[in-house]
Amino acid sequence: MIPEETIAEIRERTDIVALVGDYVRLRKTGASFKGLCPFHDEKTPSFHVMPERRFFHCFGCHASGDVIRFYMQIESLTFPEACERLAERAGVIIPKIESSEALKERAERERRERRYAIMDEVAGFYVRALAGAEGAELARAAIEERGVTAETARTFRLGYAPDAWDALVRFLESKRIDLREAEALGLIVPRRSGSGYYDRFRHRLLFPIADLHGRIVAFSGRVLPPRTPLPEGAEKPAKYINSPESPIYKKGEILYGLFEGRLDARRRGELLICEGNFDVLALHQAGLRNSVAPMGTAFTEAHAKLVRRFADRAVLLFDGDSAGLKAVSAVHPILAKVGVAARVVSMPPGDDPDSFLRREGVAALEQKLAAAPAIIDFLVDGAAREAGDDPSARSRAIASLAPVLACIDSPVERQLYEERVAQRFGIRDVGAVRRELRRGAQASFSSLRERPASPAPARKEPPYEPPALEAELVGMILDLPALLEEPEAELLPNLLTDAGLAAILREASEMFFRRGVLDGPSLVERIEGSSVRAWLARRLAVSLTGEKGAKEGFRLGALRLAKRQIERELRRLREEILEARRAGNDALADSLLADRVALEREVGELDKVLSSAMSRGASPDQGSTTRH
Ligand code: UTP
Ligand code: MN
Repeated sequence: MIPEETIAEIRERTDIVALVGDYVRLRKTGASFKGLCPFHDEKTPSFHVMPERRFFHCFGCHASGDVIRFYMQIESLTFPEACERLAERAGVIIPKIESSEALKERAERERRERRYAIMDEVAGFYVRALAGAEGAELARAAIEERGVTAETARTFRLGYAPDAWDALVRFLESKRIDLREAEALGLIVPRRSGSGYYDRFRHRLLFPIADLHGRIVAFSGRVLPPRTPLPEGAEKPAKYINSPESPIYKKGEILYGLFEGRLDARRRGELLICEGNFDVLALHQAGLRNSVAPMGTAFTEAHAKLVRRFADRAVLLFDGDSAGLKAVSAVHPILAKVGVAARVVSMPPGDDPDSFLRREGVAALEQKLAAAPAIIDFLVDGAAREAGDDPSARSRAIASLAPVLACIDSPVERQLYEERVAQRFGIRDVGAVRRELRRGAQASFSSLRERPASPAPARKEPPYEPPALEAELVGMILDLPALLEEPEAELLPNLLTDAGLAAILREASEMFFRRGVLDGPSLVERIEGSSVRAWLARRLAVSLTGEKGAKEGFRLGALRLAKRQIERELRRLREEILEARRAGNDALADSLLADRVALEREVGELDKVLSSAMSRGASPDQGSTTRH
């Protein structure tokens, strides 16, 4: 779209040494300049800029190109975006032949620009309030208590939302900012009765959330000690209030700290992923600027892709407890899918990276980082440790490792890990372990396959009809979240074939184990896809599960689902055996046959459990559920 000669003009009029110099400290050597490569980690400079040829080249990682390429890579821009910004910088005008389409596009872009400008103004307002507003001393004290320096607070533009219903509304009015626009951005909320708006954030410490280009797209507001004691019996305010999603903010696509840390992340090829806003501040401040955190949501595929753009390695800094283990095992397949190699640092009980750094210092954390095990090792060891000596817990733990091992592409490597699982669990028969693992992997595969690769263009979605038994089990959990603590709940992710239900279960258990409760509305907000959301909202509106007999009903339902899965696996095995015989590979056929016999035995055992429960009167299909 941009004419060749304009591109050439941008190239000529941009001083490559000055532009690169914004990112790299360059030293003149002869006709060229030299510095530490921003695209890989190095100690001696092999990155060269040749101003006469308008070219850069790294002898270390072989990155090279012209000024436009440099800018695209360092700022993660598309070609037209890079051209546009460089043109502006160099005073080059990009001629435009505007079709009506292009005009519309430009209007849309200008609208977005206006929104970013509003967010920027508002961030400035909150920063000023932190310095001077009444009540801000509590925010400043919170910052100081956490050891956040003034410089870090400035870099992250920390702010304070005044303790009033209309402080921001009045500021917006004084700036003649369209209040409807501010509402769309989630800054203010329309009053339910009468007219007008009130501030969303009141008496909170504010973390502005930047996108990859450093534009503020949202705020995350942490609770502060109340200015006056709360009245008796008053509800405790939520720990965080975050901006709702808006035209410029999709929370599943933002990693807090990534804008500030992107250059370090790219240089080191590694990102540190933690959980909290304060953790990000503490890590950056300690010099680990390649640290990020998702915005209080589960880690998504979009997050993983974002990570992949900047690094091919990641370290997860999570709690050492069982909630941390769950979180890590949820993140694992998502990172594996995009090819990011991950390791895990588990924090001592009761610590997060922030408190750990303050007590032990950065050297201690760096030691942990250096010694961090690969994510699979961490999960295998964790599962073995948690399962303890109880045989049924151990077999469940092995099955729960199935999706973990399924992420390994290389068959040789996978076999090594299967052996490792056997060894960790102290089981001599590797074949039995493999069967257990294969069984667990089956369902999770099919749910992955069914997930659409990319969100379909916003057509009308077909009505969502999840498989009945799966929907019922997930529904029971929505009614009685404590069921998540039942051992069968751990197997459920491997048993669900429906991607929508799997997502609901993932988010629900993440929320439950993090906060101890399920908050319906925010659960709905976390789910993508309007028809799945609608199903969830409908299901949350009723409660179909009585406390009495719920555990038993849940357990039997899960067993039934497990049985179906084994039956599917058996069908597949029968086909494979036939195929192996046809191909004359009797050795393979025989070993598959052994698997088949073992699985058939398991089905038989499940049948026994199920039918004895039936005769006791508990129908697994209905469990304790009462229908209306
Ligand atoms: P934490 O509870 O660990 O918060 O939640 P924190 O930021 O580390 O705060 P401190 O250390 O207790 O002071 C981790 C992240 O989860 C999101 C926030 O992004 C938070 O930083 N979160 C937490 C929410 O979005 N809502 C909540 O109610 C709680
Ligand atoms: Mn914390």
